[in-house]
Amino acid sequence: MKVLVTGGAGFIGSHIVDQLLAAGHQACVIDDLSSGSRDNLPPEVPLHVVDIVDTAAVADVFAREKPAAVCHQAAQMSVSRSVREPLFDAQVNCIGLINVLDAAAAGGCTRLVFASSGGVLYGEATSPAPENTPANPISPYGITKWVGERYLSFYASEHGLAAVALRYSNVYGPRQNPHGEAGVVAIFSKRLLAGEAATINGDGRYVRDYVYGPDVAAANVTALTADLPAVQPGSLTSLNIGTGIGTDVNELEAEIRRQVATRRAARGETSPLPEPAHGPARPGDLRSNLVDASRAADVLHWKPTMALTDGVAATVGWFAERQAAG
Ligand SMILES: NC(=O)c1ccc[n+]([C@@H]2O[C@H](COP(=O)([O-])OP(=O)(O)OC[C@H]3O[C@@H](n4cnc5c(N)ncnc54)[C@H](O)[C@@H]3O)[C@@H](O)[C@H]2O)c1
Repeated sequence: MKVLVTGGAGFIGSHIVDQLLAAGHQACVIDDLSSGSRDNLPPEVPLHVVDIVDTAAVADVFAREKPAAVCHQAAQMSVSRSVREPLFDAQVNCIGLINVLDAAAAGGCTRLVFASSGGVLYGEATSPAPENTPANPISPYGITKWVGERYLSFYASEHGLAAVALRYSNVYGPRQNPHGEAGVVAIFSKRLLAGEAATINGDGRYVRDYVYGPDVAAANVTALTADLPAVQPGSLTSLNIGTGIGTDVNELEAEIRRQVATRRAARGETSPLPEPAHGPARPGDLRSNLVDASRAADVLHWKPTMALTDGVAATVGWFAERQAAG
């Protein structure tokens, strides 16, 4: 099957491309490279450097590539930018999405998978939130993810497409961009590998559900390509993708620091790593957010495979290799 992955040069999208190819499918990519990189993609994968807000350019790529399915990962994904620039957020996350959905429907795609977010839809959740938790998005980014699901549902029923929205928890892993605001594992790994203190917002007692990027990619590939009785033409299926396990930022920083220290010790570096600094709390940060992925286990036969300690090791290892390569 040929799948067009928007945002395929980014963190999660590029793992989806890798796994599609490994499973014998074809992939092509639309990405404007605003945060993604060509280096994340195998050279044989066609990359169309296009902004999804450009209606004609998106339609042209679909007309040329003729994909059977679309995996929509491209997004404006900064909560704080969405607060500062709600119009820009809506242009990329609503108009861009509609461009992709229109081109997919016109081009005869049969399946759509959309990167949604459990974190921004459910808000405060001290126990794993199921999909029927009332949506309560409080930022423009959260609102556009919610609206995105409603558009997906409309296009599914109007055009007879099978649509799946995957509501990720906090995704981390190799290739995550350490310059964004969401990738705390990437940000802390990079700083500690450079021998610098990580900065923890507020008291750090912010509990999140960390899920490994390649595990999230596996859920996407199944949702895109498998014969699934619960995923039918004409309707939207929304599924949480996470572990249901909570870890706070202090614990996470301690684990990353422990792993970086072990690497340094193996190289004979004995100077201790700096303790974390504590910065101001981020206004509006949720105290706890966890998702219940039991429905994904039923519908996709998906379960997370990577324990956090092993996923952190893989991520720290990836950043260490890049640092060594300069
Ligand atoms: N990382 C997380 O924890 C997380 C959690 C919930 C949902 N999500 C969603 O998952 C998706 C992928 O996120 P990611 O973590 O891989 O981020 P990422 O920034 O690595 O990937 C997004 C990709 O989209 C591209 N892009 C952005 N705007 C574009 C535009 N206008 N036109 C074309 N391409 C554009 C970027 O260049 C990038 O390659 C996003 O939709 C995000 O909202 C991520």
